[in-house]
Amino acid sequence: MTELLEISDLTVHFEINQGAIEAVDHINLTIRRGEVLGLVGESGSGKSVTSFAILRLIRPPGRVSGSVHFDGVDLGRLSEEEMRRMRGAKIAMVSQTPRTALNPLLTVGKQISRLLMVHAGLSPREADKKMLEMLRLVRIPAPEKRAKQYPHQLSGGMCQRIMIAMALATSPQLLLADEPTTGLDVSIAAKILDLLRELSAKTGAAIMLVTHDLGVVAEICDRVAVMHAGQVVECAPVRELFHNPAHPYTKALVRSIPRVDRDVVLEPIPGSVPSLVNPPSGCRYAGRCEWVMDRCRVARPTMIEAGPGHVVACYGFEERRGTC
Ligand SMILES: Nc1ncnc2c1ncn2[C@@H]1O[C@H](COP(=O)(O)OP(=O)(O)OP(=O)(O)O)[C@@H](O)[C@H]1O
Ligand SMILES: [Mg+2]
Repeated sequence: MTELLEISDLTVHFEINQGAIEAVDHINLTIRRGEVLGLVGESGSGKSVTSFAILRLIRPPGRVSGSVHFDGVDLGRLSEEEMRRMRGAKIAMVSQTPRTALNPLLTVGKQISRLLMVHAGLSPREADKKMLEMLRLVRIPAPEKRAKQYPHQLSGGMCQRIMIAMALATSPQLLLADEPTTGLDVSIAAKILDLLRELSAKTGAAIMLVTHDLGVVAEICDRVAVMHAGQVVECAPVRELFHNPAHPYTKALVRSIPRVDRDVVLEPIPGSVPSLVNPPSGCRYAGRCEWVMDRCRVARPTMIEAGPGHVVACYGFEERRGTC
């Protein structure tokens, strides 16, 4: 059986004032049915651009190449209309900025009901009933009252839950959740994560969870892909990634996670994300890397196996394999 989502050689090219950039640079990634895949990396590593590219939401002059297959269908070959239907019904997104993603002129209840009428073909009455069910599912208190309110009348956490309710209303097979808990109160964030995990288990939906927070990843992901400066540098099952990180960047990320059970000084990740304009021709982590060798600056390392289901792109790891 094919994987639910197969991303091959995906590249997203932008022209910015300083020059051309590949915000996403030839990435390969798969998402399996029902799994929660974490996509992690520092700010600017290309996580959001990847989700937008999956949904074909990169607008010109931005350019996308490579392919994305969903359930065996090449999304690049669909018409705009077919893609719109795909977005509404089969692949949903919870964006990083829920308040701006909601329509300020419609009550939140109407927004969800409309979606259900358009994409699930429900009558207005059925749609309203299902809308209230969805609000209850995401634990919105007093849903009848909240449904009649506009986005600006709701807190950030509430808007986030409305977005999740909208995203799940049509039972998508894949949910792209971009930093769904950023800026939220810790207890609300924990509830939203529980909710996502629970909903995925209940509906069988796969989730790509975009975050820079490895603590969140440890809690709910099955597998993790690590992005650095537009490239995927490592991908592994979640326990394997935390116990045996192979890439020096992943090791640095893991070392930078605060832990309540250990009284250690956190180590910051060395250096900063390199400029995406005229990046070095080799590994984009070379300038920050403790293992850097001459060849790292010349050619980009390809993905090699580091363990079961575990791949990494690093010459340093390749040389040390078996010795560390
Ligand atoms: N429309 C655009 N035009 C030009 N450059 C863009 C555009 N959108 C994103 N970028 C650039 O692409 C790079 C990757 O951005 P992206 O938003 O994907 O990062 P991210 O990993 O989601 O970061 P964060 O954790 O801050 O959300 C950044 O350098 C960003 O400035
Ligand atoms: Mg982002």
